[in-house]
Amino acid sequence: MVRIGVVGTGGWGKNHVRVLNELDSLGAVCDMDSSKVEMYSKKYRVPGYTNFDEMLSKEELDGVTICTPATTHFALASKSLSAGLNTFVEKPMTVSSEEARKLIQIANDSKKILTVGFIERFNPAITELKSIIDQGRLGDLILLEFHRENRRSNTITDVGIVKDASVHDIDTARWLFGEEPDFVFARVGSVKSEREDFAAILLGFSGEKTAFLTTNWVTPNRVRTLSAVFENGVVEVDFVTQQTKIHQQDGTHIPTRQVQEPLMLELREFVSAIRDKRQPLITGRDGLMVTQIAEAVLASGSSGTPIFLGGSR
Ligand SMILES: NC(=O)c1ccc[n+]([C@@H]2O[C@H](COP(=O)([O-])OP(=O)(O)OC[C@H]3O[C@@H](n4cnc5c(N)ncnc54)[C@H](O)[C@@H]3O)[C@@H](O)[C@H]2O)c1
Repeated sequence: MVRIGVVGTGGWGKNHVRVLNELDSLGAVCDMDSSKVEMYSKKYRVPGYTNFDEMLSKEELDGVTICTPATTHFALASKSLSAGLNTFVEKPMTVSSEEARKLIQIANDSKKILTVGFIERFNPAITELKSIIDQGRLGDLILLEFHRENRRSNTITDVGIVKDASVHDIDTARWLFGEEPDFVFARVGSVKSEREDFAAILLGFSGEKTAFLTTNWVTPNRVRTLSAVFENGVVEVDFVTQQTKIHQQDGTHIPTRQVQEPLMLELREFVSAIRDKRQPLITGRDGLMVTQIAEAVLASGSSGTPIFLGGSR
């Protein structure tokens, strides 16, 4: 059995706890809030801790998932990797690229897995879109247009929308185009929050390939869509319903597919990478690249100029 400890059992971490229990891989839970520790350790019959160091020293774990606020990720992940544990960090992996580089070094030194919660790669609709791209069924992919809009979650206070939400679409754009962007241009602002709460981002890839990302915490309803324009058709994706619509000259095809929980697929991949002693689909380098691009988005937003990312490939 692969035993994973979850640190941070709040709004999102409680889902890690539930899913790892279903995968028979929940080893322990940890939260600085003792009421949560009590509730989840009782419910899932696993040891509970209010102190991360204590969990690391007392439990024989194979890995941890870190589901605490973004600004705590670096300190906690450094500890778990240094203790020789495979480590899954929720997005954003770190709040700065400097921290991301250090974390990758620690993971390399300890020869342990470092992976990041870019969950949309496990969304069945995105898996299907990726296979349409790889098979060349609609010709070359030219444009991606993402919309990720909703009211702000009141638990996220330590980072703005770019590092909290746009990072999902930044990663998905890199994954679908199969390369790093050459440049970033962004307009970023704030209407309802202290930190930025809307961003319009343009990522330029090779050969004029482009991704447009609109992210805001202003739209009252939940919108999570992607339109992918190919030489010979368009694929529309709804991340929430997992539906894809494939539009071509001769009509529209809507494939039927079983809805699957992306978190289940994501954590199963972490557990199986540990068991098989292999690199996971998403690595620390992905975490670094996305944080670097998010930093460029914020820099472009402040300066009003494009930021060239030479050398990031
Ligand atoms: N992949 C996704 O779709 C997705 C969705 C939501 C949140 N997230 C990510 O999950 C992380 C947590 O977000 P959330 O919404 O659950 O936040 P939250 O505030 O609801 O929960 C965070 C929990 O961490 C605990 N905590 C904080 N510091 C701790 C420490 N040092 N030791 C032990 N416990 C500690 C808090 O007590 C709290 O229970 C963030 O990185 C967020 O970006 C990812």
